[in-house]
Amino acid sequence: MCGIIGYSGISSAAPVLIDGLKKLEYRGYDSFGIATIGDRIEVFKKQGRISTGVAGARTLPGTTGIGHTRWATHGVPDDKNAHPHVDCTGTIAIVHNGIIENYHELRKQLVARGHRFSSDTDTEVIVHLLEEEYHGDLLEAFKCAIPHLHGSYALLAIAEGDERIVAARQNSPLVVGIADQAVYAASDMTPLLQYTQNVVYLQDGDLATLSPGQLLVWNNGVPACRPIEKIEWTVEQVKKGGFAHYMQKEIFEQPEVFSDTIRTLRREEIPSRILREKAVTLVACGTSYHAGMVFKYLAEERCGIPVRIEIASEFKYYPSPTRDLVIGITQSGETADTLAALKQARAYQSPTLAVTNVLGSTITRTADHTLYMGAGPEISVAATKSFIAELAVLLHLVDAISRGELTKSLDGVNRAMEQVLLSSMDRAVDLCSEAAHIFFVGRGPFYPVALEGALKMKEISYIHAEGYAAGEIKHGPFALLSPRTPAVGLCFPGETYPVMVSNLKEMKARGVPLIVLGQEGDLDLEEFADVFIPLPEGDSVQHIFGATVALQLLAYHTAVRLKREIDTPRNLAKSVTVE
Ligand code: F6R
Repeated sequence: MCGIIGYSGISSAAPVLIDGLKKLEYRGYDSFGIATIGDRIEVFKKQGRISTGVAGARTLPGTTGIGHTRWATHGVPDDKNAHPHVDCTGTIAIVHNGIIENYHELRKQLVARGHRFSSDTDTEVIVHLLEEEYHGDLLEAFKCAIPHLHGSYALLAIAEGDERIVAARQNSPLVVGIADQAVYAASDMTPLLQYTQNVVYLQDGDLATLSPGQLLVWNNGVPACRPIEKIEWTVEQVKKGGFAHYMQKEIFEQPEVFSDTIRTLRREEIPSRILREKAVTLVACGTSYHAGMVFKYLAEERCGIPVRIEIASEFKYYPSPTRDLVIGITQSGETADTLAALKQARAYQSPTLAVTNVLGSTITRTADHTLYMGAGPEISVAATKSFIAELAVLLHLVDAISRGELTKSLDGVNRAMEQVLLSSMDRAVDLCSEAAHIFFVGRGPFYPVALEGALKMKEISYIHAEGYAAGEIKHGPFALLSPRTPAVGLCFPGETYPVMVSNLKEMKARGVPLIVLGQEGDLDLEEFADVFIPLPEGDSVQHIFGATVALQLLAYHTAVRLKREIDTPRNLAKSVTVE
């Protein structure tokens, strides 16, 4: 996920662009850049945050320009990969949010036709395509170039000698703000609100030109009328996309993140060596460890390969002598324990694979291969969308190894999550917010989901929560059960359903208030649960995702009820770079 901005008006463009990029920085912050139209196209771009080293950009001349803040997906974060990108002649500049899926073949064709590339990005192909089609009118060049692009894009481009910005949108948000003598465009409303409340949402397939005070839109080659909408939100509200907290926003982004991740992965080649491995060891911490546990259950069941999962901080000092494939899972790519564990694995000459969200992070230089999750920046300390994206990568791997065993299930995951996002948690929150201790129980792949639910609950609500394999509760924790210790049970159709029901009833018999997540229409569960949270009909993979989302919402709303500092829980850090 990246942020883009455009301005065409009567004031100096550069300060407006820089200011806008600062507001979009939550969408990506590994590099940034702007381009303006002076006597020629002027570009300033740089690796790092906008707050650092921006002085040189503010002085760029001109009253029309475009800008970008990047979260790397193709090409490491550095100066040359930062946007805007320019064509071979330096007369067209472009910024892009999204992914060009066929960039590889386009790049080969463009290189063969003599174009010189100066970055490793997918975006750069677009500006060279425009260059080929440009004969004095950038809009016409867009009309010819766009049909060659497959994928998602929100694009803004400028050309020397033209005071317009040309915009295009496909599967990636782009909103235009209209003021008296200026027009703005951006990935979302955050940077626009201080200038105008009048906005136009461009739609898929739209091409538009922006010039001071004027927006013209075409779709499918014909002029299109897009209504101007009035936005009443405050700047602070919009920054979080209308959500109260980043965590809530990130929970709601999950269906989109999941689809993007799966779509991207399905085009990627997984090294054949990895697909042939006969055994796998996983190393990870916290939420990433739970994602690894889900992989273990499903890979063993569907691929028939033994999978071992190790807590990374233990593996470093007490490594299992292994020559298996070792997979390090880490959202940040910087977790010290996971890096150390992967180095340890290399010392044993095991092949290594990193699963991470951060392009160019340390783990990508430590492992032999990397699979990216593409969840975009996660601002809230508690991992939510990165967990879903980790599951997407790992289950895609199971699907690839098992030659399509999970394809159908994965195709239904999105719908399952979308429905759960609409669930009410009120009655469950009533029970949880009064408790000092909560148990989360599940079996099989729902055991790690229970662990993850308990982790989310404890880290943001500060209520002591324990995740257990349901069968283990009888082996000690039973001593703690009482009407003051609610339990959350994950009980879905499958082999363990009857024993799971028994386990929950045993708890109920000790007075435990039960919150049960099960499949909709399960009247038995509905009858004995104190609170029943129904998930849409589906298979176990879809229920894993649905239940995860439900438990994230439960933790979130409980913490809100208790007035906790949701996005920055006490004592925690987003990236744990020390042992
Ligand atoms: C929990 C959480 C942590 C991280 C853990 C590993 O919400 O965020 O448990 O999952 O610190 O972080 P990464 O995945 O960056 O290695």
